[in-house]
Amino acid sequence: MAKIKVSRPLIEHHNYSDADASSPIYTGHRQPRLSWSFEATDDTLTGWHQTHYTIKLSAWGQPHPDIYVESSESVLVPWPGKPLSLDSSCRVKVRVDGEDEHGDLVSSLWSEEITVEFVPPRDQLSANFIGSAQPQSDGPLRPLRLRKSFNVPDYDGLPDKAKLYVTAYGVYQVFVNGERIGNDQMAPGWTSYTYRHLYQTHDVREHLRPGRNVIGIEVAEGWYAGRLGWAGQRQFYGKALGVFAELQVVASETEGAVTITTDDTWECGHGPLMTSDIYDGEVYAQENEQVGWNGISSSEEPGQWMPTKVLPSTEAKLLPSEVPPVSVTEHIKPVRIFESKSGKTIIDFGQNMVGKLLVKQLRKPIGQEIVFRHAEVIEDDELGTRPLRSAGAKDTILSNGQVIETWSPQHTFHGFRYVEVTGWSPSDERCPLTMESIEALVMHTDMKRTGWFSCSDPLVNKLHENTVWSMRGNFLSIPTDCPQRDERLGWTGDIQVFGPSANFLFDTSAMLGHWLEDVASEQKDNDGIPPFIVPNILTSDTGDNSWGRFPQAVWDDVVVLLPWSLYHAFGDVEILKRQYPSMQMWLERGVRRGADGLWDPSFHQLGDWLDPSAPPDRPGEAKTDGTFVADAYLVHVTHLMTTISDIVGHKGEAAKWALEHKKLKKAFGRKYITIEGLPVADTQTGLALAIVFDLFKTPDQAKVAAARLGRAVKLADFKVATGFVGTPIVTHALSSVGLQNLAYRMLFEKECPSWLYPITMGATTVWERWNSMLPDGSINPGEMTSFNHYALGSIVNWLHEVVGGISPLEPGWKRSLIRPVPGASLTHAEAKHDTPYGMLRCKWSIESGRFILSLTVPPNTTAKVVMPDRQASHILGDTEESFEVASGNYEFSCAYEPEKWKPEAIPIPFYTPVKKELW
Ligand code: BGC
Repeated sequence: MAKIKVSRPLIEHHNYSDADASSPIYTGHRQPRLSWSFEATDDTLTGWHQTHYTIKLSAWGQPHPDIYVESSESVLVPWPGKPLSLDSSCRVKVRVDGEDEHGDLVSSLWSEEITVEFVPPRDQLSANFIGSAQPQSDGPLRPLRLRKSFNVPDYDGLPDKAKLYVTAYGVYQVFVNGERIGNDQMAPGWTSYTYRHLYQTHDVREHLRPGRNVIGIEVAEGWYAGRLGWAGQRQFYGKALGVFAELQVVASETEGAVTITTDDTWECGHGPLMTSDIYDGEVYAQENEQVGWNGISSSEEPGQWMPTKVLPSTEAKLLPSEVPPVSVTEHIKPVRIFESKSGKTIIDFGQNMVGKLLVKQLRKPIGQEIVFRHAEVIEDDELGTRPLRSAGAKDTILSNGQVIETWSPQHTFHGFRYVEVTGWSPSDERCPLTMESIEALVMHTDMKRTGWFSCSDPLVNKLHENTVWSMRGNFLSIPTDCPQRDERLGWTGDIQVFGPSANFLFDTSAMLGHWLEDVASEQKDNDGIPPFIVPNILTSDTGDNSWGRFPQAVWDDVVVLLPWSLYHAFGDVEILKRQYPSMQMWLERGVRRGADGLWDPSFHQLGDWLDPSAPPDRPGEAKTDGTFVADAYLVHVTHLMTTISDIVGHKGEAAKWALEHKKLKKAFGRKYITIEGLPVADTQTGLALAIVFDLFKTPDQAKVAAARLGRAVKLADFKVATGFVGTPIVTHALSSVGLQNLAYRMLFEKECPSWLYPITMGATTVWERWNSMLPDGSINPGEMTSFNHYALGSIVNWLHEVVGGISPLEPGWKRSLIRPVPGASLTHAEAKHDTPYGMLRCKWSIESGRFILSLTVPPNTTAKVVMPDRQASHILGDTEESFEVASGNYEFSCAYEPEKWKPEAIPIPFYTPVKKELW
């Protein structure tokens, strides 16, 4: 067996969790880039690096001569053959040669083969959007079913090709001959439909049969026409539900070709769904069920079906989808069914999640209404629905007395752990509700999981797990703030702060890369200012123009910081090139500056949003001044622009931004930092910002600020005193100046506000507020209180990089930094990342006064290792000792003497404890 194994090739960023080698990969690129990763199958293989790769392409029915390339590149290498064409699919596999540490040749066998197919661009499709010919109401619009029957010849086996290209004004499900095509949920997903609208591709060869066939599509409002945002806006993108589909069937003899497109020969009607809304849920009237409406047994009865018409086409770019679909990724069984104080039946699934119910067996008398209300928490023994604000989060079945075999809402999702059921209970005689009657289906964008962390402390592990759950729930087509109330919007600040954590945990490259394209399109039409939320639904028409056009640091800085963090995680320079105009536009036109080049202080900044000391109804009232925060970000982002300009080859721009950075840093220092080194924002967030963004003139100044941050943390009795801005960086700041003991002490704090407080309260996801639930079990009185918001979970980046000790030193993990920082009473920890090259694993333990590190560095990469006894703070002007290792498995150790645990707070003698319920 070969000592090195190579994965099957990846096409661009098609790294989806549900991808299996046998299904083709559909791309809109004629010359998609290829990547592969490695696995050493022999533990002793060390220092392996690739010297050549060979690619075998088979297309147009013939194998191509093998393409042999001398190169160490294995991530996003150029397409080696002729551009992909429409008339054929192409099979691709790869093998590699390389050398080990002794210079001996070690080669792989061929990888698994994949099939890649080019998707026709919109101008090569002849379909139009169609919808009902009846006049439309202002909504809510009842879901619509559209269908068409057609004939295909007898191909004597399967046709060569049968491709369905499909999308909708709304969200859709498509069927051929009664069978559901694909597992997508909420397709085509939410994009800024004004600019970009995606269509999906499906292979339907197996679903066709000679003679009569039927294609059926059900479409509901979704994001296109449903309610969006707290202002109650409907039909933001259009007033009519519509579908767009083209089925191309090709057989070798051309006369067998069939093309079916959506046009006014289709018919439409309504099914059992009376309403379907993302926030409010669905009403399903069983009596309107039409079994077989989308199959060959469907009735040809005139009367039930109404005419369709061609709808105006979209002005957006209609593009083939290259993002992972939203899918059902897990089924969860109830952990308990109980009766609330007022006698209601409540199901507890034990986990706060995002998705919908699956009812497995139900039979109710005619006219019975069964209502499922969803919520994240229980308050006072009843369903806690206040945080949902105006979102109904309710699905209803209206029974006609027939048995329901399986039922789920189709075009909606909810954020929930608990479901209150009316009309069905465990004491029903005929068909009781039992733990077996129902499941919860977990839904999210089906990205591949790539990052893991664990350690010897179960509460910290739970914090990490909760963050993964919050990421899953809030990566549903777009990165959202929360998944349950009347928002679920793409707030830019939330993903800006959580980006580095997200990019470690899952392969976000396709999803976030595409979302950033929408950010840039929206920004262009908004005076260079990225909207607060993308897709932007806050406009003058909705009465929310002030939100839509308000330049904001931290949130709008996503245009620089997210592409940068994606580049670091996945090594794709294209993301920087593509987003570069958006970055420039923001810094040159969007930011509103004063005479010194820093932010114009007359602009209000949300700044350190949700600082725990802010009152429940004024979440932006942080201790750290918003303009200080904005200016610190501006200096940092300007510095990054220098580096980014350099990387993308704009040398002149790089020089310009370098000069600008120097000027702004000086202005910042003059304005905000005393000669000794204290920033005027003398808070955990203010001090941490100045440290991690390197805003000091000298290491001596940094030393003063570092000591001050230590003091601030001790004065706060190790409680968190940071909001969105300070939370991702405060522990990084502490450990970067050698105060890891204090960082660990903050991590282990359990009193509110702290990271572990929610865990002690039974949280299973990350909360929006430090005290979304108060210690007495009541819900925070603020009207904005979600129990599933990832922003404050961005501490996990510190767990990955500092406690677990792994981070990318060169983009895409070509070279990694291994720098674990042990502390507190942790006896072991492990961080693992499935890098673009293969699995990187760093595991440490403390045994008899020694720190023992076991490390796996993926093939074709190297790592820089800094052991705990050699670590020092470069911010404070010290240098540390490191060594380099090539790929392979290693064990290193050093003496380790833990710092005194626990560090002591600075006592405040005259405080009288305040009753906790007053928090
Ligand atoms: C969202 C936040 C967001 C904020 C900004 C909230 O309603 O849930 O996460 O960043 O508004 O104002």
